Amino acid sequence: VLVLFILLLSVLSLATVKIGVVLPMTGGIAAFGRMVWEGVEIAHELFPEVNGEPIELTIFDNRSDKIEAANAVRRAIEVGNVNAILGEVASSYSLSGGAVAEEKKTPMVSPASTNPLVTSGKEYVSRVCFIDPFQGWAAAVLAHDKLGIRNVAIFMDVEQDYAVGLANYFMETFQGLGGHVFFEYYKSGDQDFTAQISDAMMTGAEAFFIPGYYQEIALIAIQARQLGFFGPLITGDGADAPETITIGREAVNGLYFTTHYHSDSPVFTENAKLFLEKYREKYGKNPAALSALGFDAYLVIRDAIARAGSLDRDAIAQAIRRTKNFAGATGIINIDENGNAIKSVAIVKIEDEQFKYDTTINPQ
Ligand code: PHE
Repeated sequence: VLVLFILLLSVLSLATVKIGVVLPMTGGIAAFGRMVWEGVEIAHELFPEVNGEPIELTIFDNRSDKIEAANAVRRAIEVGNVNAILGEVASSYSLSGGAVAEEKKTPMVSPASTNPLVTSGKEYVSRVCFIDPFQGWAAAVLAHDKLGIRNVAIFMDVEQDYAVGLANYFMETFQGLGGHVFFEYYKSGDQDFTAQISDAMMTGAEAFFIPGYYQEIALIAIQARQLGFFGPLITGDGADAPETITIGREAVNGLYFTTHYHSDSPVFTENAKLFLEKYREKYGKNPAALSALGFDAYLVIRDAIARAGSLDRDAIAQAIRRTKNFAGATGIINIDENGNAIKSVAIVKIEDEQFKYDTTINPQ
């Protein structure tokens, strides 16, 4: 009996904690996956254990594809046997992947998916970022109050739940302020936007709001400038990748976007300092918002496992939703009973082909 007991104990102490990281490491938005992974790795190097057990990370690439995102979550759970999932970035992928996590009753924390539907009606999917009604409101106030814009063409990527949602939240606030909007449509992967830009110019747009991802944002900026449109360009967090600048170059100078974090924005937590220091040391550059969010998503999962005191998936999922005043790299994280975090929006402007921190807007 004693031998059995000792055997059992040693088996239990070998119980590694497994976190599956589901990200777009290849394909259209691979830059997002790379940045999140950098932050997750730093968090893991600093805090590799929980409850005295090592944490094992396994990455599952969803190839920037909605169906692959669901497959990747399923693989992580069924083959990887993970205790929790960290991911996705794009809301569309968190929606398809999140449906599987929910079905399999496995806790999942998105670092950066901002569409409200990602968590709504779910018990196992949470996030460490703000949601798009707030982001859209902030972008509309920026356009109307700060830039004095009254007529906006919204370029909507109809393939992305994120873009469709954010376009509508922007519209609601902007119209409420007395402004006018009209829509131009495109799809992820499109290359030629000249028809939409010409139409927007003829309709009298003073500014473009482009709630999409970096590749298309950069191309729209280049083509708009070529066609003679020099009004303000405003986007959401989807522009927050170095690729916006490396692709768009001088065409994206002056572009404003709403996002989650900037290394110059004032966050005074211990973890913010630690993260910034370690990131600069390891990568020799300043971190982007997605790296900070990846760092925070890892720490929030780890903290929830510690508080749950077990690897029971229900206990972990519930502990995630009881995250209160967690001092992360992006600020103080409170996750509500619906799985959403209430956080500030940072406004960033591109100047001289660099991301410059502008202001922070706190939730009301
Ligand atoms: N918020 C975006 C979405 O929901 C993802 C994103 C977050 C992209 C932060 C870049 C930076 O799809």
